[in-house]
Amino acid sequence: MIIVGVVGSGAMGSGIAQVAATAGHQVLLYDKQPDALRRAQTELTRIMDRQVEKGRLTAAEAAAIQQRICYTLDQADLSVAGLVIEAIVERLDVKKALFEELEGLLREDAVLATNTSSLAVTAIAAACKKPGRVLGLHFFNPAPLMALVEVIPAVQTDPTTTQWALQLMQDWGKIPVLAKDTPGFIVNRVARPFYGEALRIYDEGLADIATIDWAMTELGGFRMGPFALMDYIGHDVNYLVTETVFTAFYFDPRYKPSFTQQRLVDAGYLGRKTGRGFYDYASGATPPLPNTDPALGQAILHRILVMLINEAADAVYLGVATPAAIELAMTRGVNYPRGLLAWANELGLPYVVAQLDAHYREYHEERYRCSPLLRRLAREGQHFAGL
Ligand code: NAI
Repeated sequence: MIIVGVVGSGAMGSGIAQVAATAGHQVLLYDKQPDALRRAQTELTRIMDRQVEKGRLTAAEAAAIQQRICYTLDQADLSVAGLVIEAIVERLDVKKALFEELEGLLREDAVLATNTSSLAVTAIAAACKKPGRVLGLHFFNPAPLMALVEVIPAVQTDPTTTQWALQLMQDWGKIPVLAKDTPGFIVNRVARPFYGEALRIYDEGLADIATIDWAMTELGGFRMGPFALMDYIGHDVNYLVTETVFTAFYFDPRYKPSFTQQRLVDAGYLGRKTGRGFYDYASGATPPLPNTDPALGQAILHRILVMLINEAADAVYLGVATPAAIELAMTRGVNYPRGLLAWANELGLPYVVAQLDAHYREYHEERYRCSPLLRRLAREGQHFAGL
């Protein structure tokens, strides 16, 4: 069994190290900050203790997982690894410098993976002399709990590297989906309207945050409403992803960020972690009540839903992933209650197209343009197949 190296022991790196150690690998977790390594070790002990308390692991299993992880401040220790997964700061220059250094250290046949969520894997791979062994392995937070892993070959990646990584992720008990190296890959692209269209509805004054959240959870079956979820993720993080995707898509209006969210970031109202975002998390604060008018709720749900469906359809149309991969990604990466394409089939594709076209006529904005694939399938009386 190969030794797995992980670079960066923050939230993602330590979670990935836990996953690899649980799958039976010896793991080398490297960080340049001693404090970060200490925190990762303490946190893993806490997690393992809870697993034992809950009866999910025996004390011996938990101890074995912990013993398989070796914490190191010395990058050179990674030289024995057969796979290194990078989870450091999200900056292209820093990641490229790291990959160049790692290539000098590692065996010829070792695979290098990046956990980037918003940078081009191809650009990172370009830092290496042998980019054929570089690819993206995008885990979701928290990595031990979220089954989805987006596997992203760079333009340069050798197909055998991709196949090997897909198999390895399956061996780790993950659900790997293949995604093209395009901005946001699958999940961070298709999910944009969940936030963006909710913000737009709010900005237009059509409904307040409590009502929009109520419509999406109670009528739509989503685990969290968009505003509660943005507060949970943190507006700094969520806004940055939106802005990065928007820029990467050459300012396609479909991904336009919201001033409302930017102002929350400006104000330092970052969500739960600062005690205030869209909602007030101070103890004793009264949560706002939704307007539970069913017609209003249905209109909100369908407006956000058709935008999500349009995004999923366009991802199929542009070859970002297969329909089945997109369904898995959204249900297992962000826990959507159902696959968006199956949902579209049930609503009826002509209905989805008619809704989008109605918004397009109303607003005259590119944001509401219907995906050509959706329109063609609807016209031909077909539905999304291969889900
Ligand atoms: P974090 O900030 O919690 O941890 C990053 C760690 O990397 C820190 O401990 C830092 O000391 C270390 N580090 C930075 N530069 C380094 C270098 N040159 N060499 C060695 N160690 C270095 O970050 P987080 O949230 O764990 O994210 C890491 C990566 O994973 C980023 O690329 C991010 O985009 C990606 N990601 C994050 C997700 C999230 O929800 N937080 C989800 C999926 C991917």
